[in-house]
Amino acid sequence: MSNYKRCNDEVNNDVPPLILEKSTELCSLADAKFARVTYDEVESSGPAAAPLGFPAPRGKRIFIILMFQKRHCAVIVIYCTLTLTFSGVIYGTVNRSRIIRGSCRSASSTSKWSSESILLLPDRNEHGYKLGITLRQTLCGYVLKCETVTKASATEKTYVEEDLLMQKNESNLWVQSGECVAIKIDRRQSMKRLHDKNSTVTNPENPWKEVAALQLMKNEHPNVIKLLGAFIDEECLYEVMPYCSGGTLNEYVRHHQNGISETEARHIFVQIILGLYHIHSHGICHHDISADNVMIDGNDLKCVLIDFGMCLRVPHSYPDDSGATDDTTDESMGTTRRLIHSHNHCGKLRYMAPEVYSKKYAFDGLAADIWSAGVVLFNLITGRQPFERPDINDPGFFDLVDETFYWDKEAVNPMMSWGREVSSELVDILMIMLKSDPRVRATLSQIMKHGWLSIH
Ligand SMILES: Nc1ncnc2c1ncn2[C@@H]1O[C@H](COP(=O)(O)OP(=O)(O)O)[C@@H](O)[C@H]1O
Ligand SMILES: [Mg+2]
Repeated sequence: MSNYKRCNDEVNNDVPPLILEKSTELCSLADAKFARVTYDEVESSGPAAAPLGFPAPRGKRIFIILMFQKRHCAVIVIYCTLTLTFSGVIYGTVNRSRIIRGSCRSASSTSKWSSESILLLPDRNEHGYKLGITLRQTLCGYVLKCETVTKASATEKTYVEEDLLMQKNESNLWVQSGECVAIKIDRRQSMKRLHDKNSTVTNPENPWKEVAALQLMKNEHPNVIKLLGAFIDEECLYEVMPYCSGGTLNEYVRHHQNGISETEARHIFVQIILGLYHIHSHGICHHDISADNVMIDGNDLKCVLIDFGMCLRVPHSYPDDSGATDDTTDESMGTTRRLIHSHNHCGKLRYMAPEVYSKKYAFDGLAADIWSAGVVLFNLITGRQPFERPDINDPGFFDLVDETFYWDKEAVNPMMSWGREVSSELVDILMIMLKSDPRVRATLSQIMKHGWLSIH
């Protein structure tokens, strides 16, 4: 290992140094069972199984009572609707659109009113979100940048003579808070089409699953996106999340032609690993880790994992089961996880683990995420993708799995073919994560204890 030349990492004063507590945190967490378990142990814990379903979003039930006249008798119709509240998450079914038109202006009393679309919060009609620009189109809809608004108070209803728009609309005036959120809006019709039972193609992408997974993880980790609220109306599912102002990691890396410095890459990668650890500790594999699904939030390169539409809930053996049966349970029993049956993959081939791509074998969901995180690290360091698809006919993939190529330990600068001179520790961590055989791929525990992460 020490055959490599040690690279002098570039100094970038804009990046906060990796603080000591972060590496201490990594080492103290690394011994958890789920992070240590090897592929062989997973394989011998029982036959491969289907992923578990997610628990339905939890909360409280409310009833809306509608009254109407029929032949002089008041007939009461009880319209049952489900509104759920759970760890700050609202999940509601309503029988009309939550989007209205209203007049908005910023908190400054001198600013003008403008006509905007506003998404009303269920059972809090004084609060809403002003819909803003489209950040991205998605499979079933789009992601919007929005701003929280509250109904204007009497004192905020000041206006100038010529501000006619406001005068016409006095009961529907909203003041912007300046606080931004991202709202992922999925059309329910499109979602239904993706999961149509009569269709021959089942799509693993499922926005409901994203809501369920984020609720299961309870908004507890700084490196995993929070779900501030989720609700539906007759047309759409709305997921409200904190707005990450720095764009995606992919966009960030594209500004650096030959990749970013090791110091910066380490700062980002540690956060990805801590986020992944949190997800895995809940018995979930993300299944779509990529530089597009890591958001940068703020100026200090804080990283947040997003996009849980493809995640899987990993099956585990029952404690008293010697591994012989097909019955499985979740991670809460503390048993060893099972391999997951191969299934229709859908996701980014550039990040997909070879065993998932091949569709021939069952796979360990957690090991597949580690492969994808390895590709992200490669991408950070070189500014490029190592391969287009994890297929032996792909020249990039062929070189990656050929240990005599750029992983050659005798080479002075093994990554020079990618235009980078990097430390031996970095070459080693990339090499152990990007093992095409998941049996010999590093576990999360090995990664968390790796020397490259504790360099300051
Ligand atoms: N919280 C957020 N803050 C800012 N932009 C976001 C946020 N969530 C998503 N986006 C933007 O929307 C894109 C798509 O969101 P994502 O959840 O990854 O959906 P998809 O399943 O379509 O990939 C992201 O790549 C990012 O550009
Ligand atoms: Mg995405």
